[in-house]
Amino acid sequence: MADTAKLYLNDSEKPLELSIRKGTLGPDVIDVSPLAKNGLFTYDPGFMSTAACSSEITFIDGDKGVLLHRGYPIEQLAEKSDFLEVCYLLLHGELPNQTKKTDFITAINSHTMVHEQLRNFFNGFRRDAHPMAIMVGVVGALSAFYHDSLDINNPEHRNIAALRLIAKMPTLAAMVYKYSIGQPFMYPQNDLGYAENFLHMMFNVPCEKKEPNSVLARAMDRIFILHADHEQNASTSTVRLAGSTGANPYACISAGIAALWGPAHGGANEACLNMLKEIGDVSHIGKYIARAKDPNDSFRLMGFGHRVYKNYDPRAKVMRQACYEVLEEVGAHDNPLFKIAMELEKIALEDDYFISRKLYPNVDFYSGITLSALGIPANLFTVIFALARTVGWISQWQEMIGDPERRIGRPRQLYTGHAMRKFAEMKDRK
Ligand code: CMC
Repeated sequence: MADTAKLYLNDSEKPLELSIRKGTLGPDVIDVSPLAKNGLFTYDPGFMSTAACSSEITFIDGDKGVLLHRGYPIEQLAEKSDFLEVCYLLLHGELPNQTKKTDFITAINSHTMVHEQLRNFFNGFRRDAHPMAIMVGVVGALSAFYHDSLDINNPEHRNIAALRLIAKMPTLAAMVYKYSIGQPFMYPQNDLGYAENFLHMMFNVPCEKKEPNSVLARAMDRIFILHADHEQNASTSTVRLAGSTGANPYACISAGIAALWGPAHGGANEACLNMLKEIGDVSHIGKYIARAKDPNDSFRLMGFGHRVYKNYDPRAKVMRQACYEVLEEVGAHDNPLFKIAMELEKIALEDDYFISRKLYPNVDFYSGITLSALGIPANLFTVIFALARTVGWISQWQEMIGDPERRIGRPRQLYTGHAMRKFAEMKDRK
């Protein structure tokens, strides 16, 4: 392909030459930034054809079902790595050696507690508040507590803010749960691993502590890995946009949590679990498949299809295995929802409607069952997603702040309202 694209405007003989930029993998991009100087904008609702930034962090090939973090396939990271190592990889670009890994874990552990004053925030919420509403509030509130790390132009401040966010998210997520059920908050316990510590803060109580279960902790850790980053999705783009204004990192992550909350983004695993419960029995699957295929019925198979993946979501394969292991461990291998899910997947993958539209199971298809087998209530699923995605958000934010091409994010529009008109006096208004 040529290194420039030629755009002929209004039959002009001389084309506008736009340079074509090449990435390591994936489609080339046409640099349309000179268009504005020529009085033109591009129009691309939903950013279907727009790269808003360049990034070295995550790559997705949706047709092949490939997801790479810093070049490493997600399947290999889920099998051989652990969440904190993946955090280091996303933040720093390389897997840590043993010394760097130990230092990183020590740094994270030194930030797992939240300011005692922050605990008071929870009392301001109703007990039945949606957990994501509380998360948006308390994560944004962190910026009121850590004035020593708010200078976004100082790399040390940025680094400490990243560590604080990754370290405190499990603590805050568990506090949201404990608040909702009226149990005392549990302090973090730093001799436990990241996922173990989260399960400890979720399910232990001061008067009775259970030993960590390594199978369940490993499954939790893998769920965190699978959700750690997913390139320029809606919430990550929100974090970048908020960050482009110079807003502090805690405020930016709070904005990301708000964007994740929507059912078309982070809320699908809860919807999938509810759908499996509604189907109720393997014998009812045919009826639901028929509904999903009916163009006059708005029902969709939750956990199927993806804007980017037009192949099996690579995260879904790992999640399926994790789901199986958790159900075995908790003695629920004959869980009826898992049976329905497996049968539904089998039937859908053989059905021409789903094959021709390239609709495959996505990560949410099995994550709801897995999380509920771990004892996590459905309204907390999106909080778990936010906890895990925090490292992706903060890595992308860091990358953006360091990008010499960074400018405030300011999309333009195609204006379709009134042309200029004279102010209408009251007596002349209809
Ligand atoms: N069940 C039945 N039909 C579907 C489904 C589904 N889940 N998804 C898409 N289709 C059909 C759709 O009706 C359309 O058919 P037709 O061409 O006959 O009109 C065709 O497939 C293309 O659909 P689309 O809406 O143009 O596809 P999209 O890329 O805009 O939507 C999606 C992607 C994820 C919103 C959609 O597949 C969906 O609603 N899935 C269910 C919800 C879900 O599981 N979401 C989780 C996404 S993964 C989490 C994350 O990464 O954030």
